Amino acid sequence: MIRHYLTVAELTATELEGLLDRADEHRADRRPRDGLAGRTIGLIFEKPSTRTRVSFEVAINELGGTPLVLSSRDLQLGRGETIADTARVLSRYVHGLVVRTFAQHRLEQLAEHGTVPVVNALSDHSHPCQALADLQTMRARFGDLAGVRLAYVGDGNNVAHSLLRAGALTGMHVTIVHPEGHPPQAQVVAEAEQVATVSGGSVATTTEPQDGVKGAHAVYTDVWASMGQEDEHAARVGRFAPYQVDVDLVALADSDAIVLHCLPAHRGEEIAAEVIDGPRSVVWDQAENRLHTQKALLELLYGALS
Ligand code: CP
Ligand code: NVA
Repeated sequence: MIRHYLTVAELTATELEGLLDRADEHRADRRPRDGLAGRTIGLIFEKPSTRTRVSFEVAINELGGTPLVLSSRDLQLGRGETIADTARVLSRYVHGLVVRTFAQHRLEQLAEHGTVPVVNALSDHSHPCQALADLQTMRARFGDLAGVRLAYVGDGNNVAHSLLRAGALTGMHVTIVHPEGHPPQAQVVAEAEQVATVSGGSVATTTEPQDGVKGAHAVYTDVWASMGQEDEHAARVGRFAPYQVDVDLVALADSDAIVLHCLPAHRGEEIAAEVIDGPRSVVWDQAENRLHTQKALLELLYGALS
């Protein structure tokens, strides 16, 4: 059976724990492996990327596979060839597709019409690969994720959606602290609430930064204007300013709290320089963990993860 990874919802709690265990093994030992030996994985990015593209390329290489970077501008896709036809054809050549695109339905179409695994490398709806690295990073600090209080402060966006689902699945208490008018999608919240009833975690949303961050073990933020929202940036700055993760806000969190950011960061906007460059910040480990978790994910999708 072909397995895709379009959202975190594709994973059970047990699979996610196993994936994170395997990612820890990869972090401890980067010797080359062979889980993708003989396989070529196509990487299509319709938006810029530093971490996701490079970490996938390296991960595929270190698992014995061959990454094939396909710029969407150079594909006929950019000239109107349908996604369905692109999926059908590429499936005859490559053994999988890692795709960063705007709309989630484009990924769903690729998965529907292709015959190889499709991985979401970020869409407007979710960023499920990021959430894996986020969890590995928090687990390294807290051991067990169950019971960890996480406050995500900022836009209720793709990163927030995946974090919410992954946190709920692992028994975390996740609070999304967002400005008025920028909540996470109601359906994502409702599904995460459902998942949390099984895991013992919880999900909450609030527009009050101080209340939301109080006592948190981990404080997370992301850009105020995501890729594709550049023209909203100026309007958002005013609305989001009270939500900057600065020293005063972090002081309300647990005294040992850590700070995460998926990167790229905008110092002086969503996060103060003293915070991201300060002692609580784990953002560089978090970025590194993209590599280890994506190796484990690929092993899971290709059946190499027992
Ligand atoms: N965090 C993340 O996905 O970074 P890139 O946009 O650089 O891939
Ligand atoms: N929310 C951001 C994440 C970047 C990794 C965006 O979509 O641009």
